[in-house]
Amino acid sequence: MQHDGLAAQGAAAPAPLAPFLLPQPERLALPDGAVQVWRLDDAQVDPACTRLAHTLAADERARALAYRHARHRNGYIARRGLLRWLVGGYLHCRPEALRFIVSAYGKPVLQWPQARLAFSVSHTDGLALLAFARDCRLGVDVERRAGGVKVADVPGFGRGIFSAQEAQVLARARLSAEALLSIWTRKEALLKALGTGLSADPTAYTTEDDWRRGAGHWQASRDGIPMSGWTCLDLDAGAGFRAALAVSLPDASVTWHRC
Ligand SMILES: CC(C)(COP(=O)(O)OP(=O)(O)OC[C@H]1O[C@@H](n2cnc3c(N)ncnc32)[C@H](O)[C@@H]1OP(=O)(O)O)[C@@H](O)C(=O)NCCC(=O)NCCS
Repeated sequence: MQHDGLAAQGAAAPAPLAPFLLPQPERLALPDGAVQVWRLDDAQVDPACTRLAHTLAADERARALAYRHARHRNGYIARRGLLRWLVGGYLHCRPEALRFIVSAYGKPVLQWPQARLAFSVSHTDGLALLAFARDCRLGVDVERRAGGVKVADVPGFGRGIFSAQEAQVLARARLSAEALLSIWTRKEALLKALGTGLSADPTAYTTEDDWRRGAGHWQASRDGIPMSGWTCLDLDAGAGFRAALAVSLPDASVTWHRC
């Protein structure tokens, strides 16, 4: 099925379609206190495009068509289509009836229906994550691990991003790519939850391991004042990726889902 030229385009050779089964909307449920993280792997982008392109609004179609490379265009269509499908399911609306606007900082916000559903989307080469929860602020970030790269290899990288405390942690870790990605994904998740992205002063925020809660937990502070009532976690998105999630709910339970 093709829709306004927005179905998957540009594949060099026909590849077998990856399994892609959309969840039935009536089976989607998002209890209070839960965070559901959906993953969309690259192999699912083309079938997702084919199934979901027709749900995009006119401005989303225009944005899709503005991408020069088919890969980027299809990735956006698949992410936005899946976002619409899942939000529609959680809110019992048709995906194409949803209306989104974009905040001054670039954050997509649901304009209709008005609902206290928080969502956050992140993508990197090979993977997109879509996170959902109710009555909270929520941010997710995923980055691909690039073997062999060191912070020191990129002069000036991270300047204006890391707090003094984070810079010390990085220095102790000998500027390893892993330490960099850890802080980077945590900070982006936090700033996306706050809705500012990197437009806020990222150096005002510090993210650090929270050993009291255990491995994979982290905590955040602003100008040295702890941000209490948040659940902040590293996500295990697979060996090739580093991912983090921040949600303004205490003791949130996080589960993985896929189509
Ligand atoms: C938000 C931000 C940190 C994302 O960085 P990134 O690592 O390149 O991209 P990610 O894949 O992790 O996230 C992209 C998604 O974040 C979301 N997003 C964009 N801006 C956001 C914001 N301010 N807050 C929360 N989420 C945001 C969108 O859903 C976007 O997905 P889409 O491209 O499918 O629409 C970065 O874009 C940023 O700092 N933006 C703010 C800059 C600004 O003020 N822009 C205003 C002009 S519109």
